[in-house]
Amino acid sequence: MPLIGPKDMFERAYRGGYAIGAFNVNNMEIIQGIMQAAAEEKAPVILQVSAGARKYAGQKYIMKLVEAALDESDVPVVVHLDHGPSFEMCRDCIDGGFTSVMIDGSHLPFEENIAMTKQVVEYAHPRGVWVEAELGKLAGVEEHVSSADHVYTDPDEAVEFVRRTGCDSLAVAIGTSHGAYKFKGEAKLDFPRLEKIAAKLPGFPLVLHGASSVPAEFVKMCNAYGGNVGDAQGVPEDMLRKAAAMAVCKINVDTDIRLALTASVRKYFTEHPEQFDPRSYLGPAREAVKAMVAHKIRDVMGASGKA
Ligand code: G3H
Ligand code: 13P
Ligand code: ZN
Repeated sequence: MPLIGPKDMFERAYRGGYAIGAFNVNNMEIIQGIMQAAAEEKAPVILQVSAGARKYAGQKYIMKLVEAALDESDVPVVVHLDHGPSFEMCRDCIDGGFTSVMIDGSHLPFEENIAMTKQVVEYAHPRGVWVEAELGKLAGVEEHVSSADHVYTDPDEAVEFVRRTGCDSLAVAIGTSHGAYKFKGEAKLDFPRLEKIAAKLPGFPLVLHGASSVPAEFVKMCNAYGGNVGDAQGVPEDMLRKAAAMAVCKINVDTDIRLALTASVRKYFTEHPEQFDPRSYLGPAREAVKAMVAHKIRDVMGASGKA
């Protein structure tokens, strides 16, 4: 199946009250694990590539791996730039075959965020490419953006931002954050705010970043086999399901992939200290990614059978 844009995926997800999983990819095993899970669950899927992933693996390598995955796949797949820091990077990804890009101007003043997003929209739309933007700030570190505190998305500003930029979807800040340490005490998301934004932008797809749930089993496994992951806490799965049933059409997951993969590798090394063939530990790690993604698609996004 050829790569597609997210328009149809999101329209169906919005109407159906579920979300599309957007999973960060950095290497072959991660791509294979995600694609195998999506095939098994008969689910549409978004493979997203950060600036860091482009730097690590190279855009051409990633696109060739995705191409190989598509040859074997019969589920709809989008390739998306995650947290594009500049117009130039968005342009390179659009020219390189991405069907969706995110321009992240969330760290900029409102007018500057609008101007940069608009510039990307003007390049992307004539080429049939989808544009996700972000308004509000997630606490924590997003590669080029880091913020000590949340700045939640203002519903009225969101309406003005969407109208003036022409962006296709919007990442909102309602209390999630990137990484494994999302909440100090009780996990809390601002659902009334999400509802307000959704009501003011009817039919418009919203995006949830920082949406890993940091499963306790992976944290325990990392720590049991020599890791020191500490007091990690993610977004509870029932909150993600609630968001998916609302206007959130795309749920971003990276940290859970890292944890699944690393927990598996740590366990393997401890149990097989004599092994040094990378296939011996990357094979089970790929399986761990696949099982985690399949669970996520089925039990959190509600996207099984929607391909
Ligand atoms: O939002 C950030 C994603 O987890 C990507 O992380 O920039 O380290 O690849 P990265
Ligand atoms: P997590 O760190 O919660 O997996 O968030 C990933 C993300 O938002 C990628 O853009
Ligand atoms: Zn993100």
